[in-house]
Amino acid sequence: MKVVIIGAGVAGLAIGWRLRQAGVEVTILERAQPGQGATWAAAGMIAATAELGEAQTPEAELAHRASRLWPDFAREIEEASGIAIGYRRSGSLMIAMDAGEATNYAGRAAADADLAVLTPAQARALEPMLTGDIEGALWAAQEAQVDNRALGRALATAFVRAGGTLVANEAAVRLETQAGRAAAVRTSFGLYEADAFVLAAGAWSGLIDGLPLGGVPPVRPIKGEMLALAPPQGAALPAQVVWGSGIYLVPRGGRLLIGATLEDVGFDTSLTEAAADWLSARAVSVMPGLRQWSIAEHWAGLRPGSPDGLPLLGQTALDGLHVASGQYRNGILFAPAVAEMLRDLVLQRPSESSAFDPRRFAAR
Ligand code: GLY
Repeated sequence: MKVVIIGAGVAGLAIGWRLRQAGVEVTILERAQPGQGATWAAAGMIAATAELGEAQTPEAELAHRASRLWPDFAREIEEASGIAIGYRRSGSLMIAMDAGEATNYAGRAAADADLAVLTPAQARALEPMLTGDIEGALWAAQEAQVDNRALGRALATAFVRAGGTLVANEAAVRLETQAGRAAAVRTSFGLYEADAFVLAAGAWSGLIDGLPLGGVPPVRPIKGEMLALAPPQGAALPAQVVWGSGIYLVPRGGRLLIGATLEDVGFDTSLTEAAADWLSARAVSVMPGLRQWSIAEHWAGLRPGSPDGLPLLGQTALDGLHVASGQYRNGILFAPAVAEMLRDLVLQRPSESSAFDPRRFAAR
């Protein structure tokens, strides 16, 4: 069997790798460089609780399932690639900045044995840089993080070492159909025929010609700007990921990543002073000492958003074409589960109907 995947982000690479391990001949077409889109721009949090709250939804179920897969997935990637990806359970400390948040967190902890409510003093014992102006915190010790930039490199290496073909700097421009099914992908340089295709091009997943009416994934870019702060001499980084005041702070490689803005402004990835000021002000409101830290990096990325906020994972309205997109804020978190799900769907292994079926938009 031959499969062509469009997009070498975390999803396309992980799906390609899993398919390759199942004996499939896989080519991944990437418009730029592997792992350099949202995969690169992300903060690498494996944070189902912090991202999705207490909701008992299919998306939360997917997030928790993926979280459970992550330790083995990370170990396997490191072994296959020889590249460390820094997966670690650093925990998430969610700060209650007001009484309403504190009440909400107390309710969540009461319903989930993996969560603990902390008093302001306990939260500050865990993270001494926190402002004195907090009402408490929720501690999710199981939550983890991974170095997403290393992850992109490692997955690309694992995929190629497994015998996959990775074609960079070659954008898929058109899908060719034959007898009502996907038959080939056309790029500026050639035609790639296959038995099945996976569209995993993140925010760019809707930008391919040749799809039937209703078959274009309704994915749109949601811009996020982020900062990395460098500590002054002698200052210690937090040990855990901290959430509060509408932002998150992630210790990574001697820097503190601060994210992120959420903007629906098309494919614009320009860096703005307004975003840097907003992120800095929020960070200082959570940890006043960060005023002394300097901005080491400022970047932007585009998340793939969908009309109902849920991912699009599975068969499209066109036979032979699958999609793995719309992961929005959770592409890194979902990756191991998405890879298994798409592998099984492409191989036509039995699967349950899913809330993420892309055909839910086909009638629009
Ligand atoms: N997962 C965090 C973000 O998308 O900003």
